[in-house]
Amino acid sequence: MLKYIVFALLSYLFGSISFAYIICKKYYGIDIRKYGSGNPGTTNVLRTVGTRAAALVYIADFSKGFLAVMIGRLFGGPIFGVFCGLFAIIGHDYSLFLGFNGGKGIATSMGVGFAISPLAALLSTLAGGAVIFLTRYVSLGSITGITLFPIFLGIFGYKSLYIFYALIMAAIAVYRHKSNIKRLLEGKENKLGQKK
Ligand code: G3P
Repeated sequence: MLKYIVFALLSYLFGSISFAYIICKKYYGIDIRKYGSGNPGTTNVLRTVGTRAAALVYIADFSKGFLAVMIGRLFGGPIFGVFCGLFAIIGHDYSLFLGFNGGKGIATSMGVGFAISPLAALLSTLAGGAVIFLTRYVSLGSITGITLFPIFLGIFGYKSLYIFYALIMAAIAVYRHKSNIKRLLEGKENKLGQKK
C-alpha cells in the first residue's frame, strides 16, 4: 500500500514541475503567468515567446504524463500506471510549486493518452488538430480531443476502469478550460496566431 502512495505522490510532484514557467523564467526572464492567457502551457508560450520554447514545453509536459504512466506500470501494473498518469496531470494543473495552480493539462494528458493507447490518442489528437485547423481555437481543439479520448477507448474495447480514468482526465481538462469556454461563448477567445 505504501508503495502505491509513494508513487502517486512522486507522480504528483513530477507533474508539478512547470516547464513553461521554468523555461520562460530562465531563458526569457518573464513570468509566463503574467502574459497572454496567463496559462503556463504550450499555447501561451507559443503566443508569448515563440515556437522553439513552445516546442520544448510541449515535449517536456508530454513526457511528464508518458513517463508517469510507464514508471507506474513498471512498479504497480497497467491500471496503476494510468493512476500515476492522472496524478501527474493533477500535479501539472494544481502544481505544488505554483501555489496549487498551474496549466490545463492537455500536453500531459496527451502523454498519458499515448502511453495508454497510441491509436486512441492519435485519433483524438487528429480530431482536435482538425478543429484547431478549421477554427484557429486551440482551446476548442483541446477540449474536443480530450473528450473524444474515452470514447475511442470504449470503441476499442478497453476495460471500464481505463475509460473511467480517461473520463476523469477529460473532466479535469474541461474544468481547467472554463475561462476559455466563457471566452468562446462570448466570441472573445484568442485565435492561433493572434497576439494578446
Ligand atoms: O492547452 C491549453 C489550450 O487549450 C488553451 O491555452 O493559453 O489559450 O488558454 P490558452
